[in-house]
Amino acid sequence: MAITLSTLKAMRDRAEKIAVLTCYDASFARVLDAAGVDVLLVGDSLGMVIQGHTSTLPVKLAEMVYHTRCVAAGTERAFLVADLPFGSYQPSPERAFSAAARLMAAGAHMVKLEGGAIMVDTVAFLTQRGIPVCAHLGLLPQSVNQLGGYRVQGREDAAATQLVADARALEVAGAGLIVLEMVPATLAQAVTEALTIPTIGIGAGVNCSGQVLVLYDMLGLYPRAPKFSKNFLEGRNGIEAATRAYVAAVKDGSFPAADHTF
Ligand code: KIV
Repeated sequence: MAITLSTLKAMRDRAEKIAVLTCYDASFARVLDAAGVDVLLVGDSLGMVIQGHTSTLPVKLAEMVYHTRCVAAGTERAFLVADLPFGSYQPSPERAFSAAARLMAAGAHMVKLEGGAIMVDTVAFLTQRGIPVCAHLGLLPQSVNQLGGYRVQGREDAAATQLVADARALEVAGAGLIVLEMVPATLAQAVTEALTIPTIGIGAGVNCSGQVLVLYDMLGLYPRAPKFSKNFLEGRNGIEAATRAYVAAVKDGSFPAADHTF
């Protein structure tokens, strides 16, 4: 049966882990879908792993629409989330709506945007108009120049307190999921316990409601894979076997291990 936002909330409520991978085309979508991945994220990480840029900033909305349409064509069961790329959802909620509407029309079930308190009005605007929103906190790749690099966020008490407050405000505004990227495991656990919606961790420890990896990191194809990632293709005889191993490791809590955690 097709996975919906209600399915994901019910999984969170019964402590069943949610397995998420990024995906950019129909052929991979078919394999990941058949291997039991719950959520496919058309991430703007495609700017790095597909287009070869050093950040996600050059990715255009039209490119996200194209890849979302490709992934939707190969997906039957998984819930499909698409990233709003840099510059497409600011400065106004109205602008965010018109960008998000294009992703939804291409087949997305939800859009993802980066940012804390500053995104609360936009999240409320979109969700009140029928567009589910996944928020993204911690390391915000679209703000890498402001943050000074791909660094762990929320280590200091004040930053951690702010992140929990932002997560709560985003949930109240209507966010249905929250990605937590590169934050200490203790902070991700505190956020997860403070919310009633699922959290999806990436470099955020094992105590989130689910995990996401960039597909090309999970398959060992990207030369600069981060410390929190793991190559699940190593020692396995194909992409479907690697994906099934990833799903199983997320579900049984053996991934991420201490080595992949801050
Ligand atoms: O673009 C992406 O792939 C993402 C994940 C890293 C969560 O946002």
